[in-house]
Parts: sequence; structure tokens; C-alpha cells
Amino acid sequence: MKDYSDKYNSYKTEINNLIKSLVIKTEPRNLYDPIRYILSGGGKRLRPVLTLFSCEAFGSDYRNALYAATAIELLHNFTLVHDDIMDNADTRRGKITIHKKWDRDTAILAGDHLIALSLKALNMTSSNNMKRIYDYYINSLSEVCEGQIYDKAFEKDRNVSINDYIMMCRKKTSKLLESCTAIGGIIAEASDNEIKSAEIYAENLGLAFQMQDDLLDIMGEEENFGKKTGGDIREGKKTFLLLKAIELAGDDKDRNVLISVINKDDVISEDNFVNLVREIYLKYGVINEANKVVKEYTEKAVSALNNIKTKEGKELLYWFSEIILNRSH
Ligand code: IPE
Ligand code: IPE
Ligand code: MG
Ligand code: MG
Ligand code: MG
Repeated sequence: MKDYSDKYNSYKTEINNLIKSLVIKTEPRNLYDPIRYILSGGGKRLRPVLTLFSCEAFGSDYRNALYAATAIELLHNFTLVHDDIMDNADTRRGKITIHKKWDRDTAILAGDHLIALSLKALNMTSSNNMKRIYDYYINSLSEVCEGQIYDKAFEKDRNVSINDYIMMCRKKTSKLLESCTAIGGIIAEASDNEIKSAEIYAENLGLAFQMQDDLLDIMGEEENFGKKTGGDIREGKKTFLLLKAIELAGDDKDRNVLISVINKDDVISEDNFVNLVREIYLKYGVINEANKVVKEYTEKAVSALNNIKTKEGKELLYWFSEIILNRSH
């Protein structure tokens, strides 16, 4: 398979430059400093690159989608800043989170302002189908909020099923990726059929991606991952891993450890607790199970690419799914 790393990196640079050019103001410092801090602090830029790839895969020049792609990345950064408040996260992209470095109110407002910057970028997009683009954008924003409220509610809910978890991931993660491919497709004036296929690709890729993120949260190398590992356990998140482990764990002692995560007992914040859960996941083959499901969703994503007309377009999106599957952060 052709390697598209150079293309990815050069698109990433263009997006980063565009982001920089959109943040002009410096005062008040305690609003714009944290905004520059999150925007310059790394990030894989997967969503804007996916938007550009999709635009290109449907036969248009990627440059037509640059502003829309940037809008989606800015919206994503808003979700991260608020997500870190909700998840009590200490680090993001290898740096202290905004609400820890400044304070919670600053992080709320920096997040809000990122939406304004995102809309500013979206408004600079030129397409014959702006209304349709806004529809996707608005819908994905409301779905992310729904997904995130489920994520929070599930922390306190003892009866969450794997299906509930998948439904939540579709909203909090897949929807934005669907917007990337759809908006890229709309800008390229792809047919409805093609856009639908690209959405199915992104939906399944999103599920694989979130499960992979949950896997890295417990198995990843902290330095590479850029986020403190074990956060999902400490916050009592009802991940596929936890729910599958409850299903598979036979030993009473192991079950009790898992049930204390389900119940969000005080013990889950103790130092060695995450290690204990990790061992249980490994003991019952939960990590392998999750890896299998990630592969299945990725395969499902890739099979939706059959409707893309050009070989180059197919290859590009196929390559993108491979890098997601093989990432370490
Ligand atoms: C993190 O997204 C949020 C999830 C949906 C898991 P990314 O892993 O794409 O974060 P950055 O933008 O590269 O930091
Ligand atoms: C993120 O899920 C979903 C968002 C919409 C931001 P996580 O809470 O797992 O994301 P990370 O691990 O903090 O990046
Ligand atoms: Mg979260
Ligand atoms: Mg989080
Ligand atoms: Mg996570």
C-alpha cells in the first residue's frame, strides 16, 4: 500500500498555520493564553486531515475544504477542554490541562471561545451547499453533547450494557468523524450515495477509534499517550473493557475489584488500583477481545469504501484507517 504520511504531515502543517492565523487577539490574556496553549500543544489533527482526505477522495482539491477542516478541529478542541474538566484530567497532549494550569472557569470560557473560533473558520468556507454543511456541523455538536452527558450519567449507573456504551461512543466520537467525511464530500460535490458510504466508514472508524483510546487509557505508555493512564478506571467509566471483564471474570475476588469500579467506590482512587484492574483485564483476555472488536469495526469501516469511485480515493481513506488502528497515542 502507498504511504501517505507525507501528505498527512503536509496537510497537518497547513491546518496548524491556518489555526494560528485565526487566533489574532492577545487580550484579555487569561482567555487567549489558554486558547493558544491548547491549540499549539500538539494533537494529531486527525479530523481535519480526514476532512481534507475525504474532499480529495471525492475528486476535489483539498484546499477547498481547508477552512471547514479547521472549523472541525477547533470544535474538537472545545470538546477536549470541557471533557478534561468533566473527567478531572490532569494532562492532555503531554501538558497540564487548562483547568489545572489556570482554573475551571477559565477552561469553560476558553472552550466556549473555541466554538466561536470554529464558527469563524466555518464561515470562511465557500461552497454551494453551505446550509448542508452547517446542518452536519450543528448536528455533530449536539450529538457530542448528548454522548458526553451519557458518558457522565453512566459513571453513576450500575446497569450500563455494552450496547449502551456503543450508543454513547457513536454520539461522543463517531458523529464528529462522520461530519468530517460528509463535509469533505459535500465540498467535493459527491453524490448522496457516496456521502452516505463515507459516513458509514467514519461511524465505524469512530467506534474503533474510541475503543482504541479506551485501550490506550489502560495499556498505553503515558509519555507517548500524552494523557495520564488509568483515568477511565479512576473516574468509573463504563468502557467496553470494564463491561466485558464483568462478563468474563469468574473469580469472586476479581469480580469484587470490578464491581468497585462499577460502584465508583473510594478504593478506585488508590495508587495500585489501576494495576489491579489491568491484571484482571489481561487475565480474562479482555484486551484481546477489545482488540478484536477494534479490528471488526475497522473492517466494517473499510468495506464501506467500496462505493468510492477512484482507486486513489479508496486507498487514501484505507490508509487513514490503518494509522488509526496502529496508533500509540
Ligand atoms: C481524543 O481525540 C478524544 C477522543 C475522541 C478519544 P484525539 O486522540 O484525536 O486527540 P488529539 O486531538 O490527537 O489530541
Ligand atoms: C472523549 O472521550 C470524547 C470527546 C468528545 C472529547 P474521552 O474522555 O475518552 O477522551 P480523552 O481520553 O479524554 O481524550
Ligand atoms: Mg470523557
Ligand atoms: Mg476524557
Ligand atoms: Mg479516553
